[in-house]
Parts: sequence; C-alpha cells; structure tokens
Amino acid sequence: MINISAPVLGNDEIEAVKDVLKLGMLAQGPKVEQFEEAFASYIGTRYAIATSNGTAALHIALLAAGIGKDDEVITTPFSFIATANAILFCGARPIFVDIDENTFNINPSLIYGKITPRTKAILPVHLYGHPCDMKEIVKLCDEHNLALVEDACQAHGAEHRGKKVGSFGIGCFSFYPTKNLTTGEGGMITTDDKDIAQKARMIRNHGQKEKYSHEILGYNYRMTDIAAALGVCQLKKLDEFNRKRIENAKLMTQEISKIRGLTPPFVATDVKHVFHQFTIRVTADYEMSRDKLKESLKRRGIGAEVYYPLPIHKQPYYQQSGYNHCLPSSEKTAMEVLSLPVYPGLTPEELNYIVEAIRSI
Ligand SMILES: Cc1ncc(COP(=O)(O)O)c(C=O)c1O
Repeated sequence: MINISAPVLGNDEIEAVKDVLKLGMLAQGPKVEQFEEAFASYIGTRYAIATSNGTAALHIALLAAGIGKDDEVITTPFSFIATANAILFCGARPIFVDIDENTFNINPSLIYGKITPRTKAILPVHLYGHPCDMKEIVKLCDEHNLALVEDACQAHGAEHRGKKVGSFGIGCFSFYPTKNLTTGEGGMITTDDKDIAQKARMIRNHGQKEKYSHEILGYNYRMTDIAAALGVCQLKKLDEFNRKRIENAKLMTQEISKIRGLTPPFVATDVKHVFHQFTIRVTADYEMSRDKLKESLKRRGIGAEVYYPLPIHKQPYYQQSGYNHCLPSSEKTAMEVLSLPVYPGLTPEELNYIVEAIRSI
C-alpha cells in the first residue's frame, strides 16, 4: 500500500529521543528552547513559541493578537476545521471569504467587501503548501489596522516572493505526522513582535510569567522535549524533504497534465510551493468521477484522499450556528479535489506506479 503520506524518520531521531529520556527533562525543557531558536532562525522571525499542536498555536496566536468576544476574523472556508474553530474558541466569529479556484487559497479581491467595524484580523491559510497572495493580504491588514495570523500548518518552508510564510504576520505551524516536518504532535508560533511573543508564552503556560503567578487566563499548551528532539532533527532535513516533494510533484505534474479531465496543481510564479499535498482537480464533467477514481486507486493500493470533502461553512456544527450562505468556488472545489501521495519517502517506482494506475483507470 502506498499511503497518502508517511513520516520519514531516521536513526538520528531515535537517538535524539533516547537522549531526552536519559536526561529526564521531559517537558518545556532545553530541547524545546533549542527547537524554538532553530525554528525562528529558519523562518526568519525574532521569536518562536513551541506548542502542543497546531490548533493550540492558532488559538494562542489569536488570543495574543487580542481577538475576543464578538470580534470578526476573516478566513477561508476551504481548510481543516481547526482554522475556524480556533476563532470560535476566542468567542469571535469566523467570516468566510471564498477561494481563488487556481490556488485553492482565500481570494484577496473578495476580502475588502467583508471588512466591517468588527473585523479584527485576517487568518489566511497557505493550503497544501501553496502560499497565499501575501502582498495583497498584508496591504489590507495595514490599511484597515487588522492583525494578521497566518495558518502555515501545511506550509513549512514555503515562500512568497522569497519570504517565508509565517514571517508576514503571526505564523502558526503544525507538526502532525502527515506534515512536511513532524514531532508526532506539536506546533509553533512565529513572530517578530516581542509583546505578542511574551503573551503567547504566558497563554501557553496557564497565563504565568513567573512560577505560580497567573496574570491572565492561560492553558496547558506546552510541548514535550521528546517532541522537540524530533523537531530539531526534522528541521535539519526540511529543505531536503521539500526539495524531494517539489521534484515528485514536477514529475507527476508532467504526466497528469497529459491525462484528459485531470488538472495538476497550479503554482503561482512568485511562490515556492512545498507540496504538503499534491492536489489535482477531477473536472466535474469528466466521465470518471472524483470519488470513483479515488476508490479505483485504493483498490490498486494507492492512498488517494480528499482534503476536504465539505467546506467549513457546510459542516453540521457551522450550519447549526447559522452559516447558511453559498460560497460557490469552495463548494465546487470540494467536489473536485483529490490528493495523491507526494511525500519525500516515495521511490521513483512508486511514483511511476501511481501515474500508470491513473492512466489505466
Ligand atoms: C490547515 C491546518 N490548520 C490547522 C491544523 C491543526 O493542526 P494540529 O492537527 O496540529 O492541531 C492543521 C492540521 O491538520 C491544518 O492542516
């Protein structure tokens, strides 16, 4: 079976975890600090704050940016549910803006019309590893005095005009096992803002600046040193992992573009796409439907997946909360996308097998 993704872990990760266990400092210890410093330096921000997962990173980032009850945060409906849920955790309201059908990301030209006096932040998602149009989004934030929280959970190392995502605003990353860099579970916040960094560190650890002095409401969103030890090793390999993903994507794009009814991923000219997912579009009027193609691939041992079959505003919980409007590009896209394996551990034979299987189906 060729899974949709698989972490690439070596002996150095095993040894690094053993070292932590021998040292006995298991949570929020020296490895976490080392990982934070290395990650900040990689992204190009002054600070990085490690968290227990990407959802926690988003929640903390929004709270640190001052988002609270009845505020509005503009975001995309075409993402993993955690993006919008983090806004709800703050008592704020996600305002969904439809996507650009090429990039699958929030359409900047539709944002302006959704800004109200209650809007406090924009939360773009660099979906599948393709950066959003940050020039336009940063401009909107500056003009309207809005916080910018980037969901870079799928985009470690991706760049827009030579600048890494997560360094435009407050960056949020996930290190879940499917991600380009994994720590098992884990997350990171990146920022240049000293006050945001300090507040984020406090919220991560029960609102305390000093031990047992709880100045604000906080949570236990800490990272373990076991996770951080994995992160330090994985970060050293991230550029090579991404290079391999890009190479795999290039090969598959060449082959898939020859197959009628399938559209390979779009890559804007001014970005580095790091292919967290290699997501094709199965055109709706094609004789083989997306779901049939997915099932046929599964029968041939290929783990193709749909990210995401239902946009967030169509999820039952959101429908019950009154989100009943139509966002046509997101809804159409959710019916057409199919992600194929692209992870760095794939062999050339496996890549050829995937393409041949699609061609024969
Ligand atoms: C776009 C996006 N946002 C947020 C998250 C949440 O990250 P985590 O699963 O680490 O909490 C994920 C992870 O799946 C994601 O893909």
